[in-house]
Amino acid sequence: MTAIPFFTNKKIADGTYQIKNDFTSGFDTYAYLVEGSNYALLIDTILGLGDLNAYCRTLTDKPVKVVNTHAHWDHVGGNFNFDSCYMHPKDIGFFQDVIGFSKEDIFGFARTSAKDEYKDLLECDENFTGTHPIKVYPVIEGDVFDLGDRRIEVVGVGGHTPGSIVLIDSKTGICFSGDACNGNTLLEFDNSLPINIYVKNLEHLKTYASKFDMMYGGHEVFDKTIIDEGIETASRVLAGTDDKVAAKGMTGNDICYAAARKEDGTGRADGKRFNMSYDPSRITGEEEINQVI
Ligand SMILES: [Fe+2]
Repeated sequence: MTAIPFFTNKKIADGTYQIKNDFTSGFDTYAYLVEGSNYALLIDTILGLGDLNAYCRTLTDKPVKVVNTHAHWDHVGGNFNFDSCYMHPKDIGFFQDVIGFSKEDIFGFARTSAKDEYKDLLECDENFTGTHPIKVYPVIEGDVFDLGDRRIEVVGVGGHTPGSIVLIDSKTGICFSGDACNGNTLLEFDNSLPINIYVKNLEHLKTYASKFDMMYGGHEVFDKTIIDEGIETASRVLAGTDDKVAAKGMTGNDICYAAARKEDGTGRADGKRFNMSYDPSRITGEEEINQVI
């Protein structure tokens, strides 16, 4: 019987591993294991198929703490192989929503992304933990994970979700960026922040740019100049001068893409890399900084 390759890893720096599910097709999701002298930090937990805790044990003998860049299901699926996790308080409610998804539903989401050769082999069995309540600890802007010989800094970059964070490791020059700023930044959801606030948050991230060179995201990897493209593109949306490409969003709502894409969908027509979707009825909004959500 063909074994399902649940995980593979790529060493991207000393003591730093990019982990992905190796059975998926066209939809890569990345977790990152960052090992320090005292403990290791697992940044995001991808789809929840396979035992990610056991896999981390093959990469480090240090205790592992889990932090999520945000609470979307494709970033928290493996949380349930652990006892606890850290995330921004503004995403904890959405994490509770994920806990409310049925095991079959989440398995179904994950299975749709499997390569054809594995689709029939994947079972909703012991290789899939499903969801259950776990302890969630808050992390906010300015918090630091002190792993011993490396310190991972938390920076808030709300937009994709209100509580989206990035984690900066100045020792390796890596910003672990989740879905905060990439070639398909989704700001189309009901809980995405308005664009005026997202731009401010990107500008805030840019103030940390001397500490990193690369943006290792949840689905894509870019150098840090993607932040400038993000600021420029989102500013065009605010000015009303973006390409406003009408489309249907992931939840079937009417959205726009800020930049026209090539016909084959592989990237921007103008050759730049950043793109974003947004709800044209929610371009600007109130400052959310201290609002209870
Ligand atoms: Fe996401």
